[in-house]
Amino acid sequence: MSSSVIGGPITRIDGKLKVTGGAKYAADYPIEKLAYGVAVPSTIADGKIARIDSVKAEKMPGVLAVFHHDNFDKLYRPAGAFEELSRPGESRPPFEDGNIYYYGQFVALVVADTFQQAQDAAANVHVTYDEKAPLVLLNQATTSNTTLAKKYSRGDADSAFPKAPVQLDQTYTTPTETHNPMEMHATIAVWNKDKVTLYESSQGVVNHHNVMSEMLGIPLENIEVISKFIGSGFGGKLFPWPHSLLAAVAARKLGRPVKVSVPRTLMFTTVGHRPATQQRMRLGATQDGKLVSFQNDILQHTSLVDDYVEDCTQVSSLLYSSPNNTAIQHLARLNVGTPTPMRGPGRTPALFAIESAMDELAIKLNMDALELRLKNYAETDEASNLPWSSKHLREAYQTGADRFGWSKRNPKVGSMRNGDLIQGWGMATCTWPAGRHAAEVRVRLLADGTARASCATQDIGTGTYTVFAQVVSDKTGLPLGKIQVVLGDSALPPGPTSGGSSVTSTVLPAIVEATQKAVDAVIQVAVYTPNSPFQNVDAKTLKMTQGRIHAQDKSPDTGVPFQDILALRNLVGLDGHAKTDADPDVKKFSTHSFGAHFCEISFDPGIARLRITRWLTVIDSGRMVNAKTARNQILGGVVMGIGMGLFEATIYDTRNGHPINNNFADYIVPVNADIPEMDCIFLDYPDTVLNEYGARGVGEIGLTGVASALTSAVYHATGVRVRDLPIRMEQLLV
Ligand code: MOS
Repeated sequence: MSSSVIGGPITRIDGKLKVTGGAKYAADYPIEKLAYGVAVPSTIADGKIARIDSVKAEKMPGVLAVFHHDNFDKLYRPAGAFEELSRPGESRPPFEDGNIYYYGQFVALVVADTFQQAQDAAANVHVTYDEKAPLVLLNQATTSNTTLAKKYSRGDADSAFPKAPVQLDQTYTTPTETHNPMEMHATIAVWNKDKVTLYESSQGVVNHHNVMSEMLGIPLENIEVISKFIGSGFGGKLFPWPHSLLAAVAARKLGRPVKVSVPRTLMFTTVGHRPATQQRMRLGATQDGKLVSFQNDILQHTSLVDDYVEDCTQVSSLLYSSPNNTAIQHLARLNVGTPTPMRGPGRTPALFAIESAMDELAIKLNMDALELRLKNYAETDEASNLPWSSKHLREAYQTGADRFGWSKRNPKVGSMRNGDLIQGWGMATCTWPAGRHAAEVRVRLLADGTARASCATQDIGTGTYTVFAQVVSDKTGLPLGKIQVVLGDSALPPGPTSGGSSVTSTVLPAIVEATQKAVDAVIQVAVYTPNSPFQNVDAKTLKMTQGRIHAQDKSPDTGVPFQDILALRNLVGLDGHAKTDADPDVKKFSTHSFGAHFCEISFDPGIARLRITRWLTVIDSGRMVNAKTARNQILGGVVMGIGMGLFEATIYDTRNGHPINNNFADYIVPVNADIPEMDCIFLDYPDTVLNEYGARGVGEIGLTGVASALTSAVYHATGVRVRDLPIRMEQLLV
């Protein structure tokens, strides 16, 4: 059905630009007369601004203005939930009033001729506060600051659990984690009369565009959002944050382009984070390991200004078969910035709790961890009562177990040795929902024999540019080098936000249709133009392969290059434009990807040294469109999971809400030396419910389940069950 350009390990078409410095990121645009904005962050987490003294700062060299809540333009609250694709990261407009809700909230913006001048002056803006004692930890949640967010129930778990012959009741916690993409957030705002161009690092130029229109109170057509290259975002760049509005308003007021960058320290406060979670898991089972009851009671934090739900309920409701199931999630309002999705939101903390509890239950039952999963395999989605569109998790488990050698595992704690080191083996399930949304794509076949595909989605580093080119190549036969892909500009036909691992499954049908329409347009010219070799031929008998129009039943060599057809009428190009949305039939299925992790750790009991020595992941995520970028996504996700398991935690000072490890020296993420030999196997079963190619998406699934595979391996080696992430050396000193 398709050429080898689909599925193979295709190198990114934008790779060269990225490694040669040719790719421009938001803060890189050389703009004339650019002024620099440096934000002044709040140093308290709860209270009010008493006074802002900016007299000295305003007189410093190069300073153009000091903005704050008393001298800023009016901004509007976004329509948010009332409008499609118009969601901000934080719904409170910056500088709305003098109230302080979290440490690091912007209280002033200094704009100067140079960055250094602005930075110097920002340090000389003196703010005094009426301060209250903040609440910053999840264990400070009380009934008065906690609300119900989500509730799922089937059967009667409350009655079934106490009667279950085998019971497990344990609580698991995950700390606040902070997105730390290499490229920090930045905005350059450039006004031309009443129109503004925003150079952004955004995972969603369309959403950003819509939010800016609402919050600035200016028409959509007066805003263009450009985000050509993104040094990743991991969810932190899905929605616009306050610095973007500050740049736009400051530039308008000063009549000069303004850049506002978010330094690494402020990445920990004003641009989202994964909230802390606490999950009480109650599992009831029969003696032979069949779940009779499955319960997850979840508490997470959100900010005082927004309800952000890190949804742990959905995966709890459907991962395993059980007649009785509840998943109840509460939000505690704390003095922290608004949380936001971070790679694998909801499922990642949920699977830490669920898969840890399953491992603990297996041990209680004296049963193999994998056997317990198979015993409780969900043949259908018991939460929605829908069949899976395509689920090969059983095969993923088996493939992984065979390749890893799981059957050689001696379940006895500390029994597997490698010299003086103890080995631990752990496994866990991973899963992520698959989705498909609306997209518009334009494909143009041009007189110079090239093609151009465009869409207002963006490539956040995952390979979206390349996927577009692969599909156009597949449908035209043009080599990748003759296909230009234009993304990351809100002026293009609207495309999806790069979130939820759904861009590929969403855009594929639109690229296919747009390409086909462009080819059809060329064929129409071929059959209606005098002197055309195909004049009066039935259009239905023609097709395009290898870039040539030819009779379907003859080889491409007998046809002519498509640009020769365009030349017959002196046309610069012909367009195909497609607008696609999820097929209603998708709703007849539960669409999820699945997989399994297997890992080996080594533990030196003398000095409590933990090292990961082997990692294997098997993924059932539909058909891979690009084996190279897909593998890169999974391995990257596992690395993030290793960070979650071993290192990551944002630590707040309880006195003032200051994230004290707000830098790369203290917020630890894995480096090469922490990462073992890794492998990833794709089962590659097309899921054609979602699109013709059967692709489901692979951005987030790799991270889910990793931390529990790791803590299970640690238990196997040491007998210590770590229920509070991250794993710390002192927990293993026994
Ligand atoms: Mo992903 S957390 O939806 O960018």
